[in-house]
Amino acid sequence: MQLITTTSALQEALANAHASHRQIGLVPTMGALHPGHRSLIERARRENDVVVVSVFVNPIQFNNQEDLAKYPRTAEADCQLLQHAGADIAFLPSVEEMYPTPVTDVYHFGALEEVMEGPQRPGHFSGVAVVVRRLFDLVQPTRAYFGEKDFQQLAIIRNLIAQIGSDIDIVACPIVRDDDGLALSSRNMRLSSEARRVAPLIYATLREAVLLSSSLSMEQVKHFVLSKLTATTLFEPEYFEIVDDSTLQPIANWGEGQGVVGCIAVWLDGVRLIDMVRFRP
Ligand code: PAF
Repeated sequence: MQLITTTSALQEALANAHASHRQIGLVPTMGALHPGHRSLIERARRENDVVVVSVFVNPIQFNNQEDLAKYPRTAEADCQLLQHAGADIAFLPSVEEMYPTPVTDVYHFGALEEVMEGPQRPGHFSGVAVVVRRLFDLVQPTRAYFGEKDFQQLAIIRNLIAQIGSDIDIVACPIVRDDDGLALSSRNMRLSSEARRVAPLIYATLREAVLLSSSLSMEQVKHFVLSKLTATTLFEPEYFEIVDDSTLQPIANWGEGQGVVGCIAVWLDGVRLIDMVRFRP
């Protein structure tokens, strides 16, 4: 595996692959890698000739400076995981390397960013789009891999691809969970032992909501999820929305929409976690 920290070295390392039309898989990450990332990298390994993984904590997608400062950084362990998972290139640029001049680009995603994470994190998706677009331009991958846990981000990236007229294939990968159901996330490392013990309640509640959806109205299911978590010590739900899986617009009753998913953000003892569940395929 090549460890690369500059954009020029990255482009040089990929020149042959491009010249010989080899298929390149890109897995963009912010590091603190876990088996969820590993599943993305292994899939990229199976489907491409060359696998590039970027590890970059992107400051412009954080609207909360404390969250940025506390974001886990584990470069050494990340490189070991990347090596074992079969990455060819690990790209770990500095902030100055990614953003040599102040960032002025702004992306808009209309209704897609007016729901769920959007209002809670102003500027977040534009910041994600800026870094993902730069990585796409640098790597020019055949395919790029993203986890379904960040369900809204996935819709935003697909929209970005349409906006910039790119033919990169966006591959959505299923959530990887711990044995007790907690969705794997780099933020889980920040949970206190008490918070980690109760954290599986998030997914358990989502699963219960799916069962209840055959007998309760959508409003009742939403109320059930929010009140169950609110009533439990340490949990502070931020939102739970039941939305159409392609437009991300909230739906009002079970008859609406094709694919239907429930997306949740919860504060658990000072750590913000998100998760999702599918109500209808
Ligand atoms: O999902 C993430 O880890 C980040 O938002 C991404 C896509 C790597 C962009 O910084």
